[in-house]
Order: sequence, then structure tokens, then C-alpha cells
Amino acid sequence: MNCEFGSTSKGEKATLYTLRNKGGMEIAVTDYGAALVKVLVLDKDGKVQDVVLGYDNAEGYEKGGVYFGATVGRVANRIGGASFELNGSVYELTDNDNGNSLHGGRDYYNKRMWQAEKLNDQKVTFFLESPDGDQGYPGNTKISVAYELTDDNELKICYHGVSDADTLMNLTNHSYFNLSGHASGPVHEQEVFIAADAFTRADAQSIPTGEIVPVEGTPMDFREYKAIGKEIEANYEALILGQGYDHNWVLKGTGMRTVAGMRSKETGIVMEVLTDLPGMQFYTGNFLINEQGKEGSEYRRRHGACFETQYFPDAVHKEYFEGPVVKAGVSYDTVTAYRFCTEA
Ligand code: GLA
Repeated sequence: MNCEFGSTSKGEKATLYTLRNKGGMEIAVTDYGAALVKVLVLDKDGKVQDVVLGYDNAEGYEKGGVYFGATVGRVANRIGGASFELNGSVYELTDNDNGNSLHGGRDYYNKRMWQAEKLNDQKVTFFLESPDGDQGYPGNTKISVAYELTDDNELKICYHGVSDADTLMNLTNHSYFNLSGHASGPVHEQEVFIAADAFTRADAQSIPTGEIVPVEGTPMDFREYKAIGKEIEANYEALILGQGYDHNWVLKGTGMRTVAGMRSKETGIVMEVLTDLPGMQFYTGNFLINEQGKEGSEYRRRHGACFETQYFPDAVHKEYFEGPVVKAGVSYDTVTAYRFCTEA
């Protein structure tokens, strides 16, 4: 099912695409920003819960500055000093975050109209052409983001890109999840696990220092399920600088694997995060202030949590961090999935 989803200030008409699976799960995505708008899951009492924060229409997504459901690129997260060198040339980016580049600069991918192709009731693909010099990055780059809802309640997002010059790519999805329902308030009591023994230490501007710090004995330890709010106010450098959780975890293993989970006792909804990427920014909505959202809701600080799978932030400046350089003509392909189930 497709329906109108408002229009942008340039007069472009947006569409909302609804995908349904046999298990009764439903998601909605829009071509404006290739954003994830709704994720509807049945809770333990059989009630439908929408577990992602969002807006009612394209106007909301165009105005919003907090990346609800957004497809973020060409490089998600931060590049220190908003510039980098590649093959002997220096590329200047927009400094939109304390002198650094965040989530692609001001000309965001999540503020553009993508071309949509709906393959069937369970899959839609969005396409974007990002020209050479776009946001400051080299290479004419063709990008696609495919959303698929499988019958085993997995929302699978496949990212693909190919460029005609060496460039950087690091695409992610910035959905804010609240498994008690998008309008239910703070997520402090919901539990999270992250399959990581370490995180990347960052400075006051959230740029990694290059140090890999073990989570053992710190509030960053999510190796077992733990309430998000349990230690979030601890007197610990990373939490003070990030004003809560807003860090990159060094995910265990390689290849497609389960890297994180979240669960709400209130609704019984459990979400597993799977990816083939090496890192994940776990961000607890610390900078969410008063955001007017879907169906009259008002989202505030920590009303949602993001699991942004990625190459490590500022990897282009860190010799020992993998990625995100993609060679001309070589395809960039990564997959992240959010799998849902409900416990009694
Ligand atoms: C990312 C960053 C945060 C913040 C949010 C958007 O998760 O790491 O610091 O900028 O995006 O508000």
C-alpha cells in the first residue's frame, strides 16, 4: 500500500510505502530521505505498538534536525576537522558540529527526495545519485538503500554504493527505538545488550582519540542485558562528555552477526540488531529536547535509543580503524537488520 506523505518546501510530493509480512508486522518508509517512519509490532497483550520515533509527513522530516529514521551518508558520524586527504588531495567538508563534519554536513541525504522502486509488499528500494563534490566528497556515486520486511519479523536494510572515483562511504540508519511505544516517554528502564568488549574513547567533541578502551568494570559494559538508565548518570568521563551514551562500540566478530539487543518488560517486545559492520554508535537521545512528532506526540530527552551501525567515527584519520575508503568501481555493500519478537 502506498499513500501520499505530504510535500517538501520545493513542492516535491513524498510517498509513504507500507510493507507487511505474514506475521502481522508492518513497517512504513518514505522516499523523502529514504527514512524509516513506522515499525509496528504486536506486544504481549496483542496490542500494536509503533516502536520508532517519527513525524506525520514529509514536512516534519524536512524541518526536523534530529535524524528520526534517517538514512545518513555519505559518511555517518564525525570526521574531525571537517576535512580529509585521499590520494594526495584534500577534501573540505561542511563543519556542522564544533568544527567537525557530522552525518554528511548540512546537505544531508536525509533531506533529499530519493527515487523509489517497490518490488512487492515486503520490499522497497530507494535510489540516490550523489554527484562528484556532493557534500565535499569525491566521485559520482550511485547509492541504493533497500528495506525488506521478512516473514520472520526481520527488517533488513541493504546499503549499496558504487562511485567512479575513490571516495568514502559509511551509510547508516538513525532510527530512535522505544520498545514500549514511540510516545511512551524515557527509555531508561528498557534493557540493552551490546556484544562488545571495548569502545572507542572520544574527546569532548566526540572525535575518537584512537584509544580502544575495554568495557570491563565501566558503565559502558553492556555484555549482559542492563537497563539503559542503570549507570547513565555515573561519574565516568565518556558519559560526562557524551551527556549520556553516544559512543562507538567495537563489535565482536566479523560477518553478519547479532551485535546488540533491546527489550521492554512493559510490552515484552525484544529487538535484536544484526550487522556485518565493525562498529555501532549507541546513542540515547541525549540531545532530544522538545520534538513535535507523530500523532501529536512530544519527544524529549532520552525518549528513544539509536543503534547506528557503522565504520568507526573519524576512521579516515585513524590508521588502525577499518574503512571507509571505497575504491572507484568497487561496490560498497553492507547489511543491517532489526529482528523483532515478543516475550510473554
Ligand atoms: C549521532 C551523534 C550524536 C548526535 C545525534 C543526532 O548519534 O553521535 O552526537 O549528533 O547523532 O542528534
